[in-house]
Amino acid sequence: MKIRLLIATVACALAAGPFLHAAETETELSKKMDKMGGAFRALRRQVADSSKNADSLARLATIKENAVASAKLEPVMKADKPKAEQAKFVADYQAEMKKFLALVEKTEAALKAGNNAEAEKLVAQMGDANKAGHKQFKKPDEKKK
Ligand code: HEM
Repeated sequence: MKIRLLIATVACALAAGPFLHAAETETELSKKMDKMGGAFRALRRQVADSSKNADSLARLATIKENAVASAKLEPVMKADKPKAEQAKFVADYQAEMKKFLALVEKTEAALKAGNNAEAEKLVAQMGDANKAGHKQFKKPDEKKK
């Protein structure tokens, strides 16, 4: 009996898997964010290492390109806001994204000047902006990712 239950549980999990995945919203914005995510992970690991500055600058260029594109898009969470608050929500999001971009540009300047200690601090601030931006603008059920 127990083994049947186990088989049934595993079969259910396998059957439901693809549907659960399909339920996660993929948007233009989430695709840009995913690209930023890959580049940021590498950047965070290596920013202190000056022998990697050329690659770090390439990662920053990827982040910048996707952040510029992201600033023109709208978060999914907008639809959950009352109509009267939607325009402000989007304007606030875009303003935050522009602040984030300014931070990216400062990090670029620090690396170009060979100041890795400063770049490391700025990357930590980029991480803070990431957390704050998600807290405010990312739909709660998307936060798990
Ligand atoms: C280092 C900076 C950042 C990284 C690495 C990053 C990464 C990500 C990742 C991996 C996702 C999930 C994408 C998916 O669902 O497949 C995401 C979603 C999202 N992020 Fe970011 N993010 C960053 C900064 C920001 C900032 C500064 C904001 C807001 C000003 C922001 C707003 C959002 C929103 C709104 C979503 C949900 C997508 C949607 O609504 O369509 N992110 N981000």
